[in-house]
Amino acid sequence: MNPVVAIDGPSASGKSTVARRVAARLGFAYVDTGAMYRAVTWRLLHEGIDPAATEAVADFARRMDFRAIICGGATRLECNGPILPEDLRSPTVSSAVALVARVPEVRARLVEEQRSLRPLAPLVMEGRDIGSVVFPDTGHKFYLDASPEVREARRHLQGEQDAIGRRDDIDRSRTVAPLRIAQDAQVIDSSSLSIDEVVDAVIASLEKVGLRHSPPGGATP
Ligand code: CDP
Repeated sequence: MNPVVAIDGPSASGKSTVARRVAARLGFAYVDTGAMYRAVTWRLLHEGIDPAATEAVADFARRMDFRAIICGGATRLECNGPILPEDLRSPTVSSAVALVARVPEVRARLVEEQRSLRPLAPLVMEGRDIGSVVFPDTGHKFYLDASPEVREARRHLQGEQDAIGRRDDIDRSRTVAPLRIAQDAQVIDSSSLSIDEVVDAVIASLEKVGLRHSPPGGATP
């Protein structure tokens, strides 16, 4: 079975940058599961469905044709048609995504898709529930955190309009797969660390247990 490195944490904790760099260093495929929830949200909004209308969202999730395709170490998404990466981080999507992500039918379909990627390549997968729900059996779990002030400042610097406090509240309080620290996850507080320091800490911890560079689709350590 291919190894999975799970990187979870709240918004703007540095997960995406760290996960992408760790994947590049290891030669593993990088999978951003937040992008999957955003893709569903974008398509829903595009089809005129109210993201707060739980039953309509659940019905959409039961019918949607969702695909995550690993290509060149990254992942391309389709949800009733191609999804453009540049559409996913708009303020409209950011403010609606947590409402969509709390609907069990959405989660069930996306978790199924996430699990289906493991046989295809060694993975670095980032999200909110990767260590706790999607791959609870992986021995490589990290939880990145940073103070709310640092996270707000980072998002601001990225030039994104995003009420991360409100989104984190919804993510932490939902009934299915709430954001929480998996019992066996290594917690890294990145408030006063650079991205490189976090990446080095993750890589050092993985090397200690023998996880090293392996090209996507290649031999598994
Ligand atoms: O970039 P940022 O960390 O702010 O968010 P993201 O990773 O793009 O995730 C967007 C939203 O998707 C989160 O606020 C969650 O509501 C949802 N999500 C989730 O529920 N479970 C995941 N594994 C990943 C994201």
